[in-house]
Amino acid sequence: MSFDLFQDENAIIADAAALLERRDASVDDLRTGLQTLLTGYEKLFKGTQKIMRMSDRSEQKVKQAHTQIQQQQAALTLAHQQLEHHAVALEDTVRARTADLVRAQEKLQKLVELGISMAAERDIDTLLENILLGGKALTHADAGTLYLIKEDSLKFTIVRTDSLGIAMGGAGKQPVFLPSVPLTKPDGTPNHQNVATHAALTGQTIVVDDAYDSNEFDFSGVRQFDRGTGYRSRSFLTVPLKPRQGKVIGVLQLINAIDPDTGKAVPFAADLVTFVEALSAQAAITLDNQLLLKAQKDLFDSFVRLIASAIDAKSPYTGGHCERVPTLARLLAQSVCAVDHGPFADFTMTEDEHREMHIASWLHDCGKVTTPEYVVDKATKLESIYNRIHEIRMRFEVLHRDAEIACLKGILADWHDREHLQQELEVQQALLQEEFAFIARCNIGGEAMQPADKERIRQIAQRTWQRHFDDRLGLSHAELKRRRNAQSSPFGIELLLSDRTDHIVARERDAHSRDTAMGIRMPAPKHLYNMGEVYNLCIDRGTLTHEERYTINEHVVQTLAMLEQLPFPDGMTRVPEFAGAHHETMTGTGYPRQLTREQMSIPARIMAIADVFEALTATDRPYKEPKTLSQAIRIMSFMKKDGHIDPDLFDIFLTTGVYQQYAKTFLDPAQIDKVDIAQYVTTAPVAAI
Ligand SMILES: [Fe+2]
Ligand SMILES: [Fe+2]
Repeated sequence: MSFDLFQDENAIIADAAALLERRDASVDDLRTGLQTLLTGYEKLFKGTQKIMRMSDRSEQKVKQAHTQIQQQQAALTLAHQQLEHHAVALEDTVRARTADLVRAQEKLQKLVELGISMAAERDIDTLLENILLGGKALTHADAGTLYLIKEDSLKFTIVRTDSLGIAMGGAGKQPVFLPSVPLTKPDGTPNHQNVATHAALTGQTIVVDDAYDSNEFDFSGVRQFDRGTGYRSRSFLTVPLKPRQGKVIGVLQLINAIDPDTGKAVPFAADLVTFVEALSAQAAITLDNQLLLKAQKDLFDSFVRLIASAIDAKSPYTGGHCERVPTLARLLAQSVCAVDHGPFADFTMTEDEHREMHIASWLHDCGKVTTPEYVVDKATKLESIYNRIHEIRMRFEVLHRDAEIACLKGILADWHDREHLQQELEVQQALLQEEFAFIARCNIGGEAMQPADKERIRQIAQRTWQRHFDDRLGLSHAELKRRRNAQSSPFGIELLLSDRTDHIVARERDAHSRDTAMGIRMPAPKHLYNMGEVYNLCIDRGTLTHEERYTINEHVVQTLAMLEQLPFPDGMTRVPEFAGAHHETMTGTGYPRQLTREQMSIPARIMAIADVFEALTATDRPYKEPKTLSQAIRIMSFMKKDGHIDPDLFDIFLTTGVYQQYAKTFLDPAQIDKVDIAQYVTTAPVAAI
């Protein structure tokens, strides 16, 4: 039934009422109206019946719905109760899981931190210590040992037992004096009885909850240790240090995991084992890399020393120079770093910078490998491969005999003239003796040559002798090449001393373009060598010609050329600069680049001082008496005055006592005399190191 139906009925009733009130309504009108009213009522009655029927059905439905709702409510209540129960359980689980996750995250964070710190650590002792301490921290272990494999044994490298206050090995600690554990038994079979060697041999992690209950491994040594110390070794976690796909290089052993709540030793938890294995894997890679780097570094250092010792061994004239200069340079550098006032108050050097300078010191004269020995060792003016005075003496012998032969021939020709001829011979031979003695004296080079001396050599050189043999026979290819343009004759008149074209050795390599490219300001002589006899005998001072002096000095150019070709890694790129400046001065008068003080680094200036002092005081040079301390320092004080060495560094060299420290090790006691440094020092004295 609709609401509209009632509206219709109301309208019918309203119409009927209106009809009854109408005065003019007819009977038919009333009949019709009544009929309409009846029809309306019938319709209303049917509608009412329909409503009642519908109402009955609705009541049933409502009842059903109510029942359903009640059932659902009960189910919901039950579900709610179950849900509440689950929620409580879930919360506990989540809480527990969260705690686990937090712990794991902390361990993971610790692991990452350890990984970063290990990767950054360059000192192997510190690295090894960090590995052990990291493992202990991860597991709350009271004790631990880090072994490294050395010569078929496990060597105790770091040992810690916190509760006993034991700390051996690692940075700054006393070394471990425990005997190594052999990887093999005396019969040569693998040692699987010891838990650490077993881990090393198999590459497997071993977890032992209580050593005293273990039947698998021999813990008798542990028991013995415990008896001696009162310690109780219980849980052991033994993990091999094995780089990825590499062989085991060591073993990390952690002892007695401590429960943070009870403080008692407990077994190592399984999740901790995983973390320690992760730490060990990371540590093994880092350690392996470090050991590899160290091995390469050691090899590099050995090569450097090999080169230096080859130079030192090459000539007694350089002795142990290349070996001693690094020690002296390091002593001075350390002193300069320690000084806290004056011009070097702020100067410091890192360990890497010390090493850079140390390598440069070892290699500073490496160019000498190219210097011909006869030049380095040239002890007389006529020396080339050998001392040519013998050749010249032989010519005097020839002249001596020629004079005698001439005399005898004269006597044969005229017997009456024999006395006169013999007197002449004696005069002649005495002159020859005297002239040779003069030449021989000049050859030594002990005194400066005066112009008159040189003139006399030229005069003596004009003597002639008869050659009867071909002077081209038996010559080397190089000698023949040098004589290519010379006059040739199997016989001839020879000068006693000569400067021939074949005495000239041409400079074949283009030194000029090399020097220009390297900034070398050391003009090369036209010829490589000049062996001229007169030329050599007329050397003003010493025994070296201009060409030979250049060759000697050229060693530093060769040093630079050699070192600048080497691909030095970061932190060592200044090795050529330090090594190549040890003959420079403060005023630009040195070689090979004529640098000034401002253009030289402090390490380079330090090396220049070390180079001079070693050379002055060396006791193993055959050509000179070693200077005493006071003599050497006096000479160096003149060098300071002349701007040849750094004055401030020289002052530190004196005031910190570096010269004394060096002298104690390397000088003969007879050389060590009293030095009054006050007269040489410009700056205020500083405390000795
Ligand atoms: Fe040098
Ligand atoms: Fe040197």
